[in-house]
Amino acid sequence: MDAFSIEGQKILRGETEAAGSKNASLPILAACLLTEEECVIENVPDLRDVRTMQRLLGILGRAAERDGRNIIVRAGSATSVEAPYDLVSTMRASISVLGPLLAKEGEAKVSFPGGCAIGDRPIDLHLKGLEALGAEIEITHGYVHARSRGLAGANIYLAGPNGSSVLATDNVMMAAALAEGVTVIQAAALEPEVVDACNFLVAMGARIEGVGTSTLTITGVSRLHGCRYRIIPDRIESGTLLAAAACTGGEIFVRGARADHLGIVLESFQKAGMQVQSDAEGIRLASRLPAKPLDIETLPYPGFPTDMQAPMMALLACADGTSIVTEHIYPERYIHVAEFNRMGADIKLDEHIARVRGVKKLEGAPVMASDLRAGAALVIAALAAEGTSLVRRIYHIDRGYARLEEKLESLGARIMRVTE
Ligand code: EPU
Repeated sequence: MDAFSIEGQKILRGETEAAGSKNASLPILAACLLTEEECVIENVPDLRDVRTMQRLLGILGRAAERDGRNIIVRAGSATSVEAPYDLVSTMRASISVLGPLLAKEGEAKVSFPGGCAIGDRPIDLHLKGLEALGAEIEITHGYVHARSRGLAGANIYLAGPNGSSVLATDNVMMAAALAEGVTVIQAAALEPEVVDACNFLVAMGARIEGVGTSTLTITGVSRLHGCRYRIIPDRIESGTLLAAAACTGGEIFVRGARADHLGIVLESFQKAGMQVQSDAEGIRLASRLPAKPLDIETLPYPGFPTDMQAPMMALLACADGTSIVTEHIYPERYIHVAEFNRMGADIKLDEHIARVRGVKKLEGAPVMASDLRAGAALVIAALAAEGTSLVRRIYHIDRGYARLEEKLESLGARIMRVTE
């Protein structure tokens, strides 16, 4: 298994480039199943989850080949409607083929996603939305089996106890694009990745009003066509790189990063004392350590993103005072806390609230990544720590960060991929 060996306390400086967004790419690749024509998706990051989605499309009969930064989903029709357990169990976003297969082929069988390291992740909203469109859904032998003899538009309220859902909004919207009549989704997710998926569907010929708002009105069309579409930059990757620079006392420019997608994250960096400047070219952060403590609450967009909770906590671990972090989206998304504490942090958990008492420095240690963002946060902590750290199980990190070690190394980090 691969691990990162990281020699800490090297100041990050220079320029790097934002990758295309993972969480926009995955549902957009799934949406290609809505047409038999070729789609060219530009700026798709080359990372493990995207390769898993390419394999899944291949299993469904639609070859999805990489050509540099683009993925070409070849013309053709689906030859299977089943997303098998071994793929879904490695990537929950496989659930986003459910809506497109159901709408286009009239049937979908997707392995029911199990628990995961960041807590309970139900799919009730996906199923509720698709049932409202007329799907018959059966959960059998660990699979979600959805069937329809023609979907029909409906009014659907799509929020759960923790607010709106990104992939449920995508799934219902993709199915509604080919349903007969008008669908109104209330409490639609507002994340930039959902807006990107809407824009992609519109580029395929879908009729959607209210893009970027919490009410999406979708008038079904009888067919969608192929198109060429460019994915937005990855706001979470950009935020992670900025957090790494902040933690090491560095100064970096992330070319292509979009400040309009990172509002509250950039404001949080500023409140922590960092200097942040942005323009149409990208975002620059100059670190001023020690960071000031912050109170952070994760919320659906435009609130503070849960995916930035762990990376931001790496900065707060060494802040000059006590920070309070409240996780509202995935109340159990704190597996990194025990690992941070092994590096000398002082973090106490009280259910979904973390009290982060800043320490003078972190110490390098062997630690283990438990999920994608927690893993990235451990890398950031290791970059700031005194001495050498070994971050194990980095296959989690490879799921969502393209060439992370190369990017960090080019900014001055001492980081090496080793095979244990
Ligand atoms: N929820 C329900 N019922 C559902 C679906 C979701 O109650 O049917 C709840 C969840 O338990 C959670 C909240 O709704 O409390 C929001 O979850 P959401 O459905 O929005 O999450 P997701 O769509 O499964 C995407 C990202 C995640 C990111 C979340 C929240 C992708 C592929 N994944 O997941 O990204 O954390 O939105 O923003 O887009 C990551 O990239 O590391 C990652 C986990």
